Amino acid sequence: MKILKRFLLFCLVFISTEILKAQSITWTEVEPGIWKGVIGKPEEFDLLKVAGAQPYHAGLQQMPKAIFPLAQSEITGRVQDGKTYLRFPLEKKEQIFGFGLNFQTVFQRGKVLTLHVDNYAGKDNGRTHGPTPFYVSSNGYGIFINSARYINVYAGTAVRRDSKIDPEVKDRNLDKTWSSHPYSDGVEMLIPAAGVEIYVFAGPTTLDAIRRYNLLNGGGCLPPRWGLGFTQRMQRLTDAHGVAAEAQAFEEKGYPLDFIGLEPGWQSKSYPCTFEWDKTRFPDPKILVQDMLKKNIRLNLWTNPYVSPAAPVYKDILPYSGSHTVWNGIVPDISMPEARKIFFGELEKGKIDIGISGYKMDEVDGGDNYLWPDVAVFPSGHDAEQMRQTYGLMMQRYTAEIYHQRNQRTFGLVRASNGGGSSFPYVIYNDYYDHRDFITALVNSGFAGVLWTPEVRSSKTGEEWLRRFQSNVFSPMAMINAWASGTKPWSFPEVAEQVKIMANLRMQMMPYWYSAFAKYHFEGIPPFRAMYLEEGFNTDVKAENKKQSLEENPYEEAVTKEVKDQYMAGEYLLVAPMFAGQTSRKVILPKGKWYDFYTGKYAGDGEVINVEPGLDKIPVYVKDGGVIPMMPVMLHAPKSGQKVDIEVRYYGDKPGNYSLYDDDGETFDYEKGNYSFRKIAVQKVNGKIKGSITPAAKGKPDNVGKVIFKAMTM
Ligand code: GAL
Repeated sequence: MKILKRFLLFCLVFISTEILKAQSITWTEVEPGIWKGVIGKPEEFDLLKVAGAQPYHAGLQQMPKAIFPLAQSEITGRVQDGKTYLRFPLEKKEQIFGFGLNFQTVFQRGKVLTLHVDNYAGKDNGRTHGPTPFYVSSNGYGIFINSARYINVYAGTAVRRDSKIDPEVKDRNLDKTWSSHPYSDGVEMLIPAAGVEIYVFAGPTTLDAIRRYNLLNGGGCLPPRWGLGFTQRMQRLTDAHGVAAEAQAFEEKGYPLDFIGLEPGWQSKSYPCTFEWDKTRFPDPKILVQDMLKKNIRLNLWTNPYVSPAAPVYKDILPYSGSHTVWNGIVPDISMPEARKIFFGELEKGKIDIGISGYKMDEVDGGDNYLWPDVAVFPSGHDAEQMRQTYGLMMQRYTAEIYHQRNQRTFGLVRASNGGGSSFPYVIYNDYYDHRDFITALVNSGFAGVLWTPEVRSSKTGEEWLRRFQSNVFSPMAMINAWASGTKPWSFPEVAEQVKIMANLRMQMMPYWYSAFAKYHFEGIPPFRAMYLEEGFNTDVKAENKKQSLEENPYEEAVTKEVKDQYMAGEYLLVAPMFAGQTSRKVILPKGKWYDFYTGKYAGDGEVINVEPGLDKIPVYVKDGGVIPMMPVMLHAPKSGQKVDIEVRYYGDKPGNYSLYDDDGETFDYEKGNYSFRKIAVQKVNGKIKGSITPAAKGKPDNVGKVIFKAMTM
């Protein structure tokens, strides 16, 4: 009996130890500083394949050589019952960022998330428009899980028995330091698939890890120049006359306008959609598109993918549709080539082929109460979960491919994306409307390989209208979405002039925005990103000021809290939006000298400043040596080949260096090398400004007219 008991005990201990054991992973360096590990049998239908992501090798080759950034033995996993369990180490002082387009939080350590494509519902729980399974660490590395599944993440919450750090057991009865969240030294994930590919990205900096991720995806998107101008979306039932009148009003009032968005009313029926023009509201769309193009204004079309029985393509696409409907429209299985041919053929015919510049692809995210349920089946055999995680990606990929084939760039909107999508020329938006959270989303977008617009729709007051407009101008897509409200930039007369000044500023800054996007494409640097990615923010300063207590050192206190209401825009700008009701705010300036964008005046160095910018201005600061190329105010983006004068604004004392990007602004010829980065160098010599710009490379597009240099800091 005793022997049997002993044997049973031995078996128990053995089994429980075996459970804790996990398989180590073999890593292969697939690109410089990027390793792929495989565990179990990964599914064919993964994010990178669905997105058709092709690494941008030339960009990756430019990245510094690096060694595997973690202890390989500490990344473990196992496959059991068709599920993959993964574990990644976390150090004590490490912070982690990412896990998609979050709206309220930037620090992700301590979160439990389910990464799930969804319409954002006011809580950062993983359900969002772009739940990219990618995170980066303050220690300078990144992890990507290439799976089109709902992924459960325990981001530094779970504590294992065999943790390297002996868990400190505390007595809640008497110990005041007892915490309901004991220290966890790992990120653990559960993927409902019998295997998965894992990618590890080296730094050395956190930004470098993000760059490698974006470059693995093909590099960030490069919009056409016109995409970076201003866009107005019309009220949903507007007709052709309304569109023409809108364009005219913008021109007469002197507000810039590059593209107009048509909302559901361009279609004969919507929700579900017919994808055909409504003949009463738009009797001759081709003429309308051409007339607008003559004015240098493009049209963008709203749609969702749910097909009405009244749609011309209904019968053809029915066999390639899912089991469930959305608003009683059928859901094309666009993971099948047969469905794609019909569906995207319809988006091209009479739309793209008459000059429609792009699409806004709506409602491909969720929510659960109207989208296909997880029990739905699709003829491709891809299940409802896989379709949910990738529908937005596929909509982006296949529309982008149509434009690519036509050698014409597009820039549109989409409400869902996922990992693998950095190169798609689409910006995410939603129906949620909290200005502060919109800015936090902008901060987080740079961690997720997606673009986000804090769109302006309506406002209670002129003040709110202007504040929202100001931050929208410092975002990937400057837009009023008036589909319900019918608002115009001048809707609040008391701030109409200030709104115009901001819209004009957006246009003046086009060379800066365009170059920032070129760096997104060629170097993987997100054009809009968190302060944590900025050199001189947090760690260095903290180390230096260690001796000071928190009271004496408000900077340390500020940066150790989440900073989610200010961000970096392009190479040199720090943007700190103001929100309605605020007359002053704190701005955290990283180490190094910073200057006021508007006046060039010194603002501070590694400190927290309090600013009262007045209603007219959104606080913006420029790094020492910052170079901001500006063009004259124009109502529309310059056309291909149009020479534009450049005023190079130079801030501070450090010698300024900048790469000004130039190409035709409209085609994909840049992929064949038809572009140039022109080097700008500026410095002050004996109090006088000295600047130079290299000529355009021989035979390459040259849109730069006269160049003048302006020292902003005297
Ligand atoms: C919403 C979308 C809005 C607008 C509207 C039109 O779902 O987010 O921006 O396009 O549909 O019905």
